[in-house]
Amino acid sequence: MQNRNTLLRTGPLPGAAFGAKIVVEAPDARAAVDALLDSAFDIQGRLAQAQGLLVLSGLAALACAPEDYVRLSQAFGPELEDIRATLTAPRFFHPDVAEIMVLSNKPGHDHPPPPRPSGALPVRFPDRINWHTDQSYRRPPPDVSLLFGVTVPPPDQGQTLYADCTAAYKALDPNTKALIDGLDGIHTMSWIGRGVEDVRSGVMPTPVLDHQKPVRQPLVRHHPVTGDPALYLCEEKQMDYLDGPVAGMEPGPDGAGARLIRDLLRHATQERFVYVHTWQAGDLVVGDNRCLLHAASWYDSATHAREMWRTTVMGNAGAPYAGEAKSWLPPDGVSVMAGLEDA
Ligand SMILES: [Fe+2]
Repeated sequence: MQNRNTLLRTGPLPGAAFGAKIVVEAPDARAAVDALLDSAFDIQGRLAQAQGLLVLSGLAALACAPEDYVRLSQAFGPELEDIRATLTAPRFFHPDVAEIMVLSNKPGHDHPPPPRPSGALPVRFPDRINWHTDQSYRRPPPDVSLLFGVTVPPPDQGQTLYADCTAAYKALDPNTKALIDGLDGIHTMSWIGRGVEDVRSGVMPTPVLDHQKPVRQPLVRHHPVTGDPALYLCEEKQMDYLDGPVAGMEPGPDGAGARLIRDLLRHATQERFVYVHTWQAGDLVVGDNRCLLHAASWYDSATHAREMWRTTVMGNAGAPYAGEAKSWLPPDGVSVMAGLEDA
């Protein structure tokens, strides 16, 4: 039953041409999540209407109620990732809850921020190079990531950027749409030596097992809920510049495929498609990986603590992935220590 003292106020997301903002006033975490999960509120429908981005504020109580954070995450799809079963490095584990990934510079977690930029907050590729969609190196790829600010640095540091890839696709010229519809990008984990810098340096890629190999993904994905087409691509470390980044096009960091990906990244990360989230403790951002890019930004890790919790929702990647086994899980008999994934 919904608590009478709980209030949800929704509206457009200030500073963005997409997304929605939800301000939560509730006496505790359970009441807040109960209200958000009320079927009349239809939080999953609101995510689709907002082109894949919801920004919730007023949820600081969730930091002491991880089970309510998991309960809220479950509203966005049929399955949550259990990071202890997916070769994730233990430094990302939440001490009690297997579905929560902890991204933090606190002792024991030791997750560093991106490098400090030379000027003000860079937004557009290639001034900003860590644009990506989570776990695109997996088939089927995940649906939605929830990111919760437990401890955050000052507001002018550690922002998270989101780009609307539905609007970016729509704004492409007809010739580019015709060129990319039907093409596949080749996505890779960053640590196996297939990113731009790895290939330029000439080192041999890391030998990997079958479940760690790069995978192909459509360059244009049709969202399984809205049906809208959206660009689906990644930054320079999360695509394969040895055999790709685009299947069937000239490979390599300077090939035709790389030029196409860079043109598309430059296009999709123009300020008109981007929202920059300035964190306050208790903010929760729901981002749909099927139709958004996102990027982390620098903060002064020597001075400020930062702790973010992430849950990853999967199970509705759409028709092209129907019936597929999870590509990233090793077959029986392979040691789970064969290759720890860095999140
Ligand atoms: Fe991410």
